[in-house]
Amino acid sequence: MLDPFLKWPGGKRWLVRQCGPMFPLQYRRYLEPFLGGGAVFFHLAPQRAVLSDTNIDLVNAYQCLKKHVKVIEKRLLDLQHKHSKTLYYRIRATRPTGAIEQAVRFLYLNRTCFNGIYRVNLRGEFNVPIGTKNLVAYPEGYLQGIATCLRHASIRIADFEETIDEAAAGDFVFVDPPYTVMHNNNNFVKYNANLFSWADQRRLVSAVKRAARRGAAVMISNADHQSVRELYSDFGTHHRVNRASVLAADFLHRRKTTELLITSYQLRHSEYLDRPTLQAPSPLC
Ligand SMILES: C[S@@+](CC[C@H](N)C(=O)[O-])C[C@H]1O[C@@H](n2cnc3c(N)ncnc32)[C@H](O)[C@@H]1O
Repeated sequence: MLDPFLKWPGGKRWLVRQCGPMFPLQYRRYLEPFLGGGAVFFHLAPQRAVLSDTNIDLVNAYQCLKKHVKVIEKRLLDLQHKHSKTLYYRIRATRPTGAIEQAVRFLYLNRTCFNGIYRVNLRGEFNVPIGTKNLVAYPEGYLQGIATCLRHASIRIADFEETIDEAAAGDFVFVDPPYTVMHNNNNFVKYNANLFSWADQRRLVSAVKRAARRGAAVMISNADHQSVRELYSDFGTHHRVNRASVLAADFLHRRKTTELLITSYQLRHSEYLDRPTLQAPSPLC
């Protein structure tokens, strides 16, 4: 059980803290088709896994950590000593060609940029300004733990459909797409250079249903929005979960947001009753 090594938009650290008992206890293989920071993967630390995302830099960082963790650790320690505003913008402007250098740059920028945001311009150039955090290197031994966790994982650049279509009976698929809702953001969420459209959300429902029919257990995390509830109206059990907002404005007004979790399997509700600190999600249907 490890914390993710990335700060990532839509990261699910809160979900593993609040909803750990909602994951199945046993499964054959773990599949995560929208990997991002992989909070659920690192929480479950499964023996066998398929991890994928369409973000090339992100996937490269995972692949390099798996194979070259010592070199990366050393490079980050070196950058820790040299870190400054000038260095940040110099590194941000570079386009290294080697996979390890690309991974080091990606991790350095993720650690030191403003709020761990990932944003690229139309030319695909990372354009987030420097943040206030100065920690470049990770605690000793931490990245080695990450590499160990990734040892038996197959890590790929792939569209979600390709990965979900691989799920078979007994597998567990955790599905955490960009949160698009109908009639919002012109129906698109921009994630790196790609757009996640409402048509993608529809394509996702079909893939999820096919996987569940083949006997895979599926959990989907999505926006608690009428359009999303309708999209999955004939699939699984819907649970509304409360989440303390991380937005400063919401925090000041003590506003809580809700998110939707849809499971193709029944929950072990008794676990919530045994642990009063956990709030049992309320089934919607
Ligand atoms: C909400 S984030 C996942 C966050 C992750 N669960 C975590 O804990 O950090 C969604 C991810 O989907 C990826 N993505 C966007 N479109 C995709 C697609 N068509 N296929 C696969 N991944 C995609 C993005 O690059 C992003 O990393």
